[in-house]
Amino acid sequence: MIEKIAKLKKEKNAVILAHFYQPNEIQAIADFVGDSLDLSRKAADCDADIIIFCGVHFMAGSAKILSPDKTVMIPEMNAGCPMADMVTAEDIKRLRKEHPDAAVVAYINSSVEVKAECDICCTSSNAIKIVNSLPNDEIIFVPDKNLGSYAQQFTDKKVNLFSGYCPVHNRITVADIEKARAAHPGVEILVHPECPEDVVAAADFVGSTAQIIDYSSNSDKKEFVIGTEYGVLYPLEKKNPDKKFYMLAENFTCANMKKTTLEDVLECLETGKNEIEIDEEIRRKASASLLRMLEVK
Ligand code: 13P
Ligand code: SF4
Repeated sequence: MIEKIAKLKKEKNAVILAHFYQPNEIQAIADFVGDSLDLSRKAADCDADIIIFCGVHFMAGSAKILSPDKTVMIPEMNAGCPMADMVTAEDIKRLRKEHPDAAVVAYINSSVEVKAECDICCTSSNAIKIVNSLPNDEIIFVPDKNLGSYAQQFTDKKVNLFSGYCPVHNRITVADIEKARAAHPGVEILVHPECPEDVVAAADFVGSTAQIIDYSSNSDKKEFVIGTEYGVLYPLEKKNPDKKFYMLAENFTCANMKKTTLEDVLECLETGKNEIEIDEEIRRKASASLLRMLEVK
């Protein structure tokens, strides 16, 4: 199957992009594996005709928004992100009426319609920078209350939080941190900013998946506790065979991210199934929000 995928990929000038939470065998065959920000940059810049996006729906959607002339496919159409469905374009319209002077920042984990309605997108690796790049003194941050409250700590702006959350990260508690500290004394705990505010406050490092991987790879320390989805163990262990990584909690897994199979990737290449299609007017508006984000240095 892997050989067939490689052959077809070449014949069709296709590229496979995968998120760090994808199953190991998918990360192993991908041309590029990254966090949400690097993947959207890659989707915008790569010169393939076809992008097979191994991730959840909003990620493949972002690739199509940024590369409308490419065929973008998602191996498993039902791989969604529950947090992305927690806010709607109607919510944004309502919030704008309540806070007329505020700029709307939408986490990239959101629908195309929400991206079309906001002022600028952000990811977990640039949320603070994006919030501070805006001229407005007031921000509406959707949908993730945890990432929003993390960004709030690094700005003088008033940040109005929404009620969304990631079910995978939001269930982590300070008790998990205490347990990990007791089990691994002196070992640094690295968490994703989608974790609750008190968990983030109790951790030693906060960052996106790529930032967690970079931090532990560049550190002289030999052991780390990882507070994000366990898919990151694959790149972490591959890059750092001499280091040890412990998961902050059991079953730290995103079921949607694990829906992608090699069979589905091959089927995309063979049959062109699951192509992402977006209404052009909405795409153009959503594209402006994503491009604004990519322009922030
Ligand atoms: P990253 O921005 O770290 O890729 O995170 C995406 C995500 O969905 C985290 O749950
Ligand atoms: Fe969505 Fe959470 Fe899964 Fe990330 S880990 S894709 S935010 S459900």
